[in-house]
Amino acid sequence: MCGIVGYIGTADAKEILLRGLEKLEYRGYDSAGIAIANESGIHVYKEKGRIAALRDVVDTSEESEVGIGHTRWATHGVPSQLNAHPHQSTTSRFTIVHNGVIENYEQLRREYLEGVEMVSDTDTEIIVQLVDTFSKDGLSTEEAFRKTLSLLEGSYATALLDNTDRDTIYVGKNKSPLLIGLADGVNVIASDAMAMLQVTNEFMEIEDKEIVVVTRETAQVKKLDGQEISRDSYIAELDSTDIEKGTYPHYMLKEIDEQPFVIRNIITKYKDENENIKLDEEIRSAVTDADRIYIIAAGTSYHSGLVGKELIEKIAHIPVETHIASEFLYNMPLLSKKPLFIFISQSGETADLRGVLVNVKELGHPALTITNVPGSTLSREADYTLHTHAGPEIAVASTKAYTAQMAVMAILAVDAARAVGVEIDFDPLQELGIVANAMEIFTEKKEVLEEVAREFLSVSRNAFFIGRSLDYYVCMEGALKLKEISYIQAEGFAGGELKHGTIALIEEGTPVIGLATQKDVSLNIRGNMKEVVARGANPCFISMEGCEHEEDTVVMPAVHEYLTPLVSVLPMQIISYYAALHRGCDVDKPRNLAKSVTVE
Ligand code: M6R
Repeated sequence: MCGIVGYIGTADAKEILLRGLEKLEYRGYDSAGIAIANESGIHVYKEKGRIAALRDVVDTSEESEVGIGHTRWATHGVPSQLNAHPHQSTTSRFTIVHNGVIENYEQLRREYLEGVEMVSDTDTEIIVQLVDTFSKDGLSTEEAFRKTLSLLEGSYATALLDNTDRDTIYVGKNKSPLLIGLADGVNVIASDAMAMLQVTNEFMEIEDKEIVVVTRETAQVKKLDGQEISRDSYIAELDSTDIEKGTYPHYMLKEIDEQPFVIRNIITKYKDENENIKLDEEIRSAVTDADRIYIIAAGTSYHSGLVGKELIEKIAHIPVETHIASEFLYNMPLLSKKPLFIFISQSGETADLRGVLVNVKELGHPALTITNVPGSTLSREADYTLHTHAGPEIAVASTKAYTAQMAVMAILAVDAARAVGVEIDFDPLQELGIVANAMEIFTEKKEVLEEVAREFLSVSRNAFFIGRSLDYYVCMEGALKLKEISYIQAEGFAGGELKHGTIALIEEGTPVIGLATQKDVSLNIRGNMKEVVARGANPCFISMEGCEHEEDTVVMPAVHEYLTPLVSVLPMQIISYYAALHRGCDVDKPRNLAKSVTVE
């Protein structure tokens, strides 16, 4: 969470920083700030709320070619102007922005900063005060910065300005993402390349516990002991138009509509010239060598992991367990003898998953990351990566990444099945083409679903999604989508489980959305719907051809039974979108959330 940017060059730094922060707002939007340096000193502007609020307080007449910026998701201290970054040392010599959590900040404060008055409630302020203290002891800025970082426990991506040398930015990283962007006479820093595509598409990665001393002409990477390191740069294959909304009112709607293209893109990327599955031999071996697969994920990616378990077990006959990362981290079950860990993460940065990955590597087990961001932390640190090719997902509510993850897992499962000689009558590349076509009907069916949102969800306090088998997992995802963007209390339930307690919550008018795509349980779920209707529920039924009834609100075109979640989630996404819209919620940036969850 939190996004940071920095710029040193010849153009107007404040506008570049503000535009960069707008691209990073998905990482947190409680407050924002920038610090710019010019011949008269370092000027800090910060404000509670969004970047738009920050723009209002920035002095546009102040010129500068150097600066740093931050958009915050609060961890230590309430969202406020006081706690917004940048933070300054008591002497005002040093100014800092930070993304991460400093776990030992209380201890460091007691040990090194007795008598130093802290202004904010943040853990970040400790960093800038330590640099100031160590520089007063006679260390150069770089030495003080390296000493400070070597004392920190926790995560940080941080950038520092020194008022006595306003032509250098010092940056450091541990666990939180940070990139250096390189151009002619200009260098930039960013939590995510998207923020600085406006300046360059050439980037350099920084490893954990490294610093970079950035000037206009150089970006010198060093270890915390001062040893210099040479690092290659790469060209980011990102198109800045991918991160624009175009004519869409919200990123979420754009990303929902992109799903057919994403699935077709995945088919192309995973198909060889003979129309067979194209997958690295070593990934195939890692899967087929495993006696059990452990899928680790969070949130929406966890829901796709539940579907992934079904796909791999049914298709490749390999046992799979799917776990919530934050639970697995502190409560690891008894592992099998030859496990393979699969980490599913849109961002590739989720801290809970990274914690598990670190433990798994220590135990010597192989790890595969399925992610939308190949250069991300989870991708770099795992042994293997599968790319979901969904393009940048900006809306906090994940949509296209979820369907892309399941598509890739279907391909992985069939590849493994063929490698071990399991006979299967399922061609995922062909069937995914049918899925992409089926998804397209929702671009035309939006009015029906908008009406469902209006009728069922515009005033209700709660809602239930019920399904069985694979549909149950999609219901969990539908409920998460609805609650995170519309703030309606929503739960996804296994239809058969309702009568064991939860049915007590059904009262006159309670919206219940039923899903039926699985022929073998379609009558059972209809029976469960009757039970809630008998108790006053307001029912909405979404079904698939082959399971449909005349009175169903939405009937989707049939797709292979393994792949139904890729299609049936779309009406859930669209209903959630309109429910949030009708209730006046901020669809792309729901309250209290951030896109990339880089704290545990
Ligand atoms: O980037 P990740 O896939 O690891 O993120 C995991 C969750 O934080 C994420 O899916 C979250 O649940 C979404 N906001 C849901 O829409």
